[in-house]
Amino acid sequence: MSRLLIKGGRPLCGEIRIKAAKNAVLPILAASLLTKDPCEICDVPALADISNMLRIMQGLGTNCKREEDVLTVRSDDLTSYSVPTDLAKELRSSFFLLGPLLGRMRRAVVAYPGGCDIGVRPLDIHLKGLREMGVAIEESHGNIFCDGTRLRGADVALDFPSVGATENLMMAAALAEGTTRISNAAKEPEITDLQNFINAMGGKVGGAGSGKIVVEGRASLHGCKYTPIPDRIVAGTLLIAGATCGGDVCITNVVPEHLEPLLFKINKSACFLDVRSDKITLSCHGRPHHFDKLETQPYPGFPTDLQSQAMVMMSVAEGTSVIVENIFETRFRIVRELTKMGASITVKDRTAVVRGVKGLEGASVSAGDLRGGAALVIAGAKAEGYTTIDGARYIDRGYESIEKTFCALGADVKRLG
Ligand code: EPZ
Repeated sequence: MSRLLIKGGRPLCGEIRIKAAKNAVLPILAASLLTKDPCEICDVPALADISNMLRIMQGLGTNCKREEDVLTVRSDDLTSYSVPTDLAKELRSSFFLLGPLLGRMRRAVVAYPGGCDIGVRPLDIHLKGLREMGVAIEESHGNIFCDGTRLRGADVALDFPSVGATENLMMAAALAEGTTRISNAAKEPEITDLQNFINAMGGKVGGAGSGKIVVEGRASLHGCKYTPIPDRIVAGTLLIAGATCGGDVCITNVVPEHLEPLLFKINKSACFLDVRSDKITLSCHGRPHHFDKLETQPYPGFPTDLQSQAMVMMSVAEGTSVIVENIFETRFRIVRELTKMGASITVKDRTAVVRGVKGLEGASVSAGDLRGGAALVIAGAKAEGYTTIDGARYIDRGYESIEKTFCALGADVKRLG
């Protein structure tokens, strides 16, 4: 299992270009099943989650080809509508295939992806919405059997603005007869990107970002060439790294509007931000100020996927910060690891109180989830001395060669084994 070795204590300086967002590419790959034509998806980073999604799609009969950062996928002859259990457990996002398989084949079998280190992650909102669209669903022995022969447009109200459920329903609705209206829909930028992709395929989707999405079902869709939005979470991770370690970090190919909640917080934390239309430069030459209170919320609130990284920044800030995690019930696993590095954090239920310390010391720590792992890389780059991070495979799910990225910013990060 590969590990990372970091010699910390240096400021970060340099420029990084952000590639397409993992959480936009995954549903867009799933949506490409909605057509027999080839789809070309550009600027795609080399991530484990994306490779796993392509493996699952190949198992269904999709033809996948990667040339540098361009993926060409063609599902002209789908041979199966059943997602293999072992792969479904490996990749939660395989559940995004449910909607397009029902739209395209009117059938789908997917294993329960199961929980993970950040929470139970149930699927009740997905299944409730699909049932309201006429899908007959049976669950047995950890598998979910869906019969979509009576799939039709419907009015669906989500109990919670679930990103995945919104995306699954949009994709099922794209080829269903009639109109589907999804209320209390997620508003993440990745939802709007999926809408734009389906429309580029000849679909008719509107309202993404407003919380009310309307999908006019189509008899068929055609292929397209598409570049997804840049990864706001990777961009935010690197900005927080600059604010935590000090230095001058420039991020290009970003949409500042997608990072507003983070930029607002960083602006109040003794860092200078120069924000242009597709570029953000952060200069930080001193200890960051604490955040007072940070609560994660669905978009446009502060993203849960940047909470662990913000916690690292607050662990060395002046003052005490309070972090409330409202989205995933156990997204504080990193606290135990940061404590080994000298952080002073106490947790009660969904609230963490972070008392800023002057500095962190290198230690042997382990990543248990994707974003917690990225946060530990920031902590290692900040800490005096050496830090080893076990579980680099978690980080590789969402960050392309994180060691190369941090080295390009002047950090000393090596991959071992
Ligand atoms: C997506 O996960 C992202 N993953 C997550 O990013 C992100 O943290 C999350 O949205 C929230 O923004 C991808 O897009 C591939 P949800 P998803 O359904 O769709 C509960 C990363 O690090 N819920 O919006 O699974 C759920 O338990 C990953 O890139 C139900 O109760 O998130 C959670 O508490 C981590 N029932 C909350 O809703 C359901 O049927 C948000 O989940 C579905 C969800």
